[in-house]
Amino acid sequence: MSAASQPIRNRGETTPPAPTHVGIIMDGNGRWAAARGVPRALGHKAGAEATRRAIEAAGELGVSWLTLFAFSSENWRRPADEVRDLTGLMRHYLRHEVGQLVEQGVRLRIIGDRSAFGPGMQAEIEQAETVTAGNARLNLNVALSYGGRAEIAKAAGALARRAAAGEIDPASIDEAALAAHLDTAGMPDPDLIIRTSGESRISNFLLWQCAYAELVFQPVLWPDYGAEHLREAVAEFHRRDRRFGARTG
Ligand code: FPP
Repeated sequence: MSAASQPIRNRGETTPPAPTHVGIIMDGNGRWAAARGVPRALGHKAGAEATRRAIEAAGELGVSWLTLFAFSSENWRRPADEVRDLTGLMRHYLRHEVGQLVEQGVRLRIIGDRSAFGPGMQAEIEQAETVTAGNARLNLNVALSYGGRAEIAKAAGALARRAAAGEIDPASIDEAALAAHLDTAGMPDPDLIIRTSGESRISNFLLWQCAYAELVFQPVLWPDYGAEHLREAVAEFHRRDRRFGARTG
């Protein structure tokens, strides 16, 4: 490799590869709005802008998979007007931002219980997934009506039904079999999970998949999130010593 083509930056240090899969728990829209004395809906709108910045920054950093926790199965318990604002924002995104995703080489997939949404939104989800299906620069998962426990329970139920029907031997059910029945089947596990707003919880996000993820909690409220915050989280990831249960010495 010639010196010019080597991946060298910053005083000759080699830049480590970006984490393959980054998950983000986007938290703090409500507090951002409260701090400004504006309605929560404006916090979510500003959060959607931050989402755009994060997608762009992830692509530029060379991240291959990005999973964003946008609406949890528990978020249905919020007041009806807030649920309406959030789902309205998602629909707007599905209708109007897909062209931008195509331009950026982003493939969109929705994980979670899409049957919880109305037929119109379900059709828009399918349409957006189909239109972006040929893109490969960045795989973007948006978790909607998603809960990690529900996802695992659904996978267990599917395996139990297949065993009861005689399609599979119950003794063959192992970790790989369960993983193959999750919404994330065939995707790499997250290497890095970020939560913003200073809260240090996983909140039912990618429970099975986060087994060996590095967790980074950042104080910034989601609407203020920018490329520099993602770069900081990735730098922190690179400072971690990942052993996957083994010993290095
Ligand atoms: C958490 O803030 C954020 C959410 C519940 C929704 C996340 C949604 C977005 C970032 C906008 C839309 C996303 C897409 C993909 C278009 P919170 O309301 O829990 O904040 P708080 O903890 O400060 O009250």
